[in-house]
Formats: sequence, C-alpha cells, structure tokens
Amino acid sequence: MDWLDDQRFDPLRERAMLVTGGAGFIGSHIARALLHLGCEVRVLDDLSSGHRENLPDGVEFVEASLLDDPLLASAIEGCDVVFHEAAMVSVPLSVEQPDLCRRVNIEGTQRLLEAAARAGVRRVAFAASAAAYGDEPRIPSSETDPTCACSPYAASKIAGEALCQAFARCTELSTVSLRYFNIFGPRQDPRSPYAAAISAFGDRLLRGEEVAIFGDGEQTRDFTYVENVVRANLLAASSERDLRGEVVNIGTGRRRSLLEVVRTMGEVLGCEARVRHEPPRAGDVRHSCADITRARELLGYEPTVQLRQGLAHTLSWMSERTPA
Ligand SMILES: NC(=O)c1ccc[n+]([C@@H]2O[C@H](COP(=O)([O-])OP(=O)(O)OC[C@H]3O[C@@H](n4cnc5c(N)ncnc54)[C@H](O)[C@@H]3O)[C@@H](O)[C@H]2O)c1
Repeated sequence: MDWLDDQRFDPLRERAMLVTGGAGFIGSHIARALLHLGCEVRVLDDLSSGHRENLPDGVEFVEASLLDDPLLASAIEGCDVVFHEAAMVSVPLSVEQPDLCRRVNIEGTQRLLEAAARAGVRRVAFAASAAAYGDEPRIPSSETDPTCACSPYAASKIAGEALCQAFARCTELSTVSLRYFNIFGPRQDPRSPYAAAISAFGDRLLRGEEVAIFGDGEQTRDFTYVENVVRANLLAASSERDLRGEVVNIGTGRRRSLLEVVRTMGEVLGCEARVRHEPPRAGDVRHSCADITRARELLGYEPTVQLRQGLAHTLSWMSERTPA
C-alpha cells in the first residue's frame, strides 16, 4: 500500500473515522486503507450483505443497523469523517422490497447525516451510484446530465445525493457524493445471487465452467478496480475544499465490453474462456462510462490501477478461495 504515503492524505492520519457498511466489499477496502494511515477505524454494519471475515484486524466493530439511532450516535461520536457505504445494494432486491430499500438507503442516509451534523463530524463521503444516469445514459456520462430513476435502488441513491446537498446547505457538515461505476476487486461476493459481472465471471472461470453472458456481450461498462475508489474516497475526505454536496463520478473514463473483459480474464489465467450467451436481460444498460473530468479537477483523482492489473489481483484472491 505504498500509494498511501501520498502527503495529500496527511490530514486524515491518526484521526477517528467511521465506515458504514465496512464489512462489505468496498467499505472493507476503505477501512484497511484508513488503518494503514494510522486512523482509529470504526465500522457499523448489520451484516445483511457483508461478512465478519471482511473486517480487518484493528477495527472497532459495531454490529448494528444504520436505523439504530443510539448505536449510530455512539459509533459516530468523535469522528472526523464518515464514509457512508452501507446500503441495500441490489437492484432486483430493491424492486422486490422497495419499502426496505427506502428505509435503509434514504431514511438510513438521512439519520446518518443528522447524527453526523449533531456530532460535529467534518465531512461525510457518500457512496452514490452511476445508476442515477438511468438506462439510456449519455456516453460518457457527466454529472451535469439529467438523472433518471429506473429502479427503487436508483431512486434511493439520487435521494441520498439530494440529502447530502441539503445537509451541506443547512448545517456545518461538509458532504460529497461519489457516483461509483462498476467497481470490482477482492472481497466482492461471487456467490451472491446478485454477484457483479466480474466476480461471477471469475468464479465460473476458476471452476473451469462456461461464463454466462446476457445478450451478445458487446455491452460496455466502466469497470473500476476498487483501489481507485478507495483513493477517490481518501482524496474526497482529505480535500481542503469546502465540499458542499458536490456529485462526482468515480470510474476510469474507459469502457470495455463484457467479451473483452472475459477474454482478458482468460489471458490472465492462461486458459481459454468459454462463453455461453443467454437472452438479454430487460432493463440492462447497453453502455456505461464515466466522464471523470470533475473528479480530476475537484479531487485530483486519477485511476491508477488499470483493468488487466485489477483483474489479476482479483483472480489471484479468488483462486485462493476456490476449491481445486
Ligand atoms: N459495487 C459497485 O459496483 C457499486 C456501484 C455503485 C455504488 N455502490 C455503492 O457502494 C456501497 C458499497 O457497496 P458494495 O459493493 O461494497 O456492497 P456490499 O453489499 O458488499 O456492502 C454493503 C454493506 O452495507 C451493509 N448494510 C446494508 N444495510 C445496512 C444497514 N441497514 N445498516 C448497516 N449496514 C448495512 C451490508 O451488510 C454490507 O456490508 C453501496 O452504498 C453501494 O450502493 C457500489
């Protein structure tokens, strides 16, 4: 983790930090990086989709929901920054259970912002989503494009951004919303029924099985290795700018087709990737890609880990966990 020597992160060193959803995929990477910076790291997670094994040694773990006000208040007390990653993350689940999605993603975010403002937290970095651009986004998508809520999940993430803006206007709390694009890396759950494309592909390839792709495989995504997202979060947290609810895309600015990704994974593993095509899924976006100009200008963000390297790290981690 040499990249953490960056002096821009100095304001964060040895401070107390809260990571909501820190037992999940992205949150656990943020928690590890903060520990390396010498921070006192607290994680609040109800383990609804995260796992205790993801928690790095040295974090203070509070097993609780965002909706548990007393435990949230005590976890947030004395924190400099909150990284708000906890959410219902599955689009299909949000369609099945819109009320739970609203409670966790909207009400939970509101309660977190209230608690943070009350406790005198300096900044909240909110995990927003490219889902805000809807199912026919402009390519590349820029933060000035209109939003379109195509699922309760997307609606809840757009609402979360709006709440971050409102609290930054009405209170002293500084907020920033990072719109993540297709994040992948170690600890992303490949066995989840909602597994993201790369973890599901990796799981199949490592078992010597065919990879199932919905549609022709020419659909593209801005696949972003998780370390880039952690870097973006630390830059957002340490920025000296007075951030007031700005929305910032976090991706690589490049889009790759699913077929290209599967081929590259096969090359990394030294095997031929066999693909089975299944009927296209209704509602799937055809193309998605971030314009990262604002992230560069506002945060000094640059995606430094490229696709092939990120896939190699991910497959190496997955292969250690796949029975031969
Ligand atoms: N992975 C991506 O590509 C991606 C893309 C866009 C946005 N995001 C956002 O990034 C964040 C992290 O996603 P992830 O991919 O790491 O998913 P994840 O499921 O691994 O992590 C989410 C964590 O939140 C916890 N959680 C859920 N409900 C909670 C509640 N009520 N109280 C406390 N904890 C709760 C879960 O147990 C889990 O550990 C989410 O907010 C997600 O919407 C992710």
